[in-house]
Amino acid sequence: MLPVPLFHLPLPPPAAQAASAALAAEIDAEIAASGGWLSFARYMELALYAPGLGYYSAGSTKLGPGGDFVTAPELGPLFARCLARQLAQLHEAGIPDVIEVGAGSGALAAGLLKALDALGRLPGRYMILEVSADLKARQQARLSAEVPSLVERVSWLDTMPRDLEAVLVANEVLDAIPAHVIRARGGGIEEMGVIRAPDGALVRAYRPAAGPLLRAALALDLPEDYETELNLTARAFVKSFARVVKRGALIFIDYGFPAVEYYHPQRAGGTLMCHYRHHAHDDPFVLPGLQDITTHVDFTAMATAGVDAGLGVLGYTTQAQFLVNAGITDILAETPAADVRAYAPLAGAAQKLISPAEMGELFKVLALGRGVDEALIGFARGDRTHRL
Ligand SMILES: C[S@@+](CC[C@H](N)C(=O)[O-])C[C@H]1O[C@@H](n2cnc3c(N)ncnc32)[C@H](O)[C@@H]1O
Repeated sequence: MLPVPLFHLPLPPPAAQAASAALAAEIDAEIAASGGWLSFARYMELALYAPGLGYYSAGSTKLGPGGDFVTAPELGPLFARCLARQLAQLHEAGIPDVIEVGAGSGALAAGLLKALDALGRLPGRYMILEVSADLKARQQARLSAEVPSLVERVSWLDTMPRDLEAVLVANEVLDAIPAHVIRARGGGIEEMGVIRAPDGALVRAYRPAAGPLLRAALALDLPEDYETELNLTARAFVKSFARVVKRGALIFIDYGFPAVEYYHPQRAGGTLMCHYRHHAHDDPFVLPGLQDITTHVDFTAMATAGVDAGLGVLGYTTQAQFLVNAGITDILAETPAADVRAYAPLAGAAQKLISPAEMGELFKVLALGRGVDEALIGFARGDRTHRL
């Protein structure tokens, strides 16, 4: 049965409703096969990545004004131009290649390639690791149209190469990795899962947590009656990238906090969020496959995963500070304010990227690295590594 959309969400077109119903049937089959209860992390994985039907695997427009949410690269060229300056510094330091993980619409890849070309710092190879076949096709079409002379350096990876000398960039990817939901209750830790209720709705159901999830949750020392998320897969993801980089950096940009803020006693309801057609809400069980489901990133856990795999922390700061350090104001100043048609969109994007009320404070940049001796320009001022 199709879940009833929250009353304030736009009704999806019939074909989308049918696709959502097909995914709901797959989810029902998994719930049945796993004894009537499915871990939320597995539900999130199916809702986002089930082949052909999951949110990121199916063919709808996800990013930008016509989609469900807007990311920094979708706001125009500014974000990519700033990040390119950081990549150019690493290129100059002898790190030849770039790998982008989760390239979405291809906006960041196109912007980075153009900006690195202009800086005379094109990477030898620009590799993309993308889990969604639909997004991969969109990226290929966009890059062929926007940067035809550079597209031959771009390749799409099926597996991660080893012994890389590269900078890995992942913008808003860690928040899309399926997370476990846990709660501290009755002196113990429970894991949230999903069951099919007698009235046909998908609803939350809790079980005692076990194994690695329980061990990781106990380490957080959560207060009683506290619900939150814990992302074991994102930790493993960072470790797996760390292991294949012989020399280079991993740059993660996303919304989130260090553990001390993430698991602050006042954040007792967690950070789980859903996005559908620019409406944000917290019910992950409506419209499976049609809405994005995300959790904020615990940057302490990501840094620890990197350090455990032998990397050092090269820097951690807010997106605003990183972009200012990378020269966003110089880039803006290249366009005369009197040229309103050119300047107004740039100024509007800059405001969204750096304003504390928009993306500037909530979004953070974490750089991990191996064999990089240079102090990275993006963290020259306002580095917050000590807060991790
Ligand atoms: C929220 S979108 C961000 C897209 C883009 N980076 C941007 O900033 O606009 C998340 C992206 O990560 C991809 N993704 C999620 N998990 C992934 C994984 N395990 N490996 C590679 N890509 C993944 C999704 O398919 C999607 O392209």
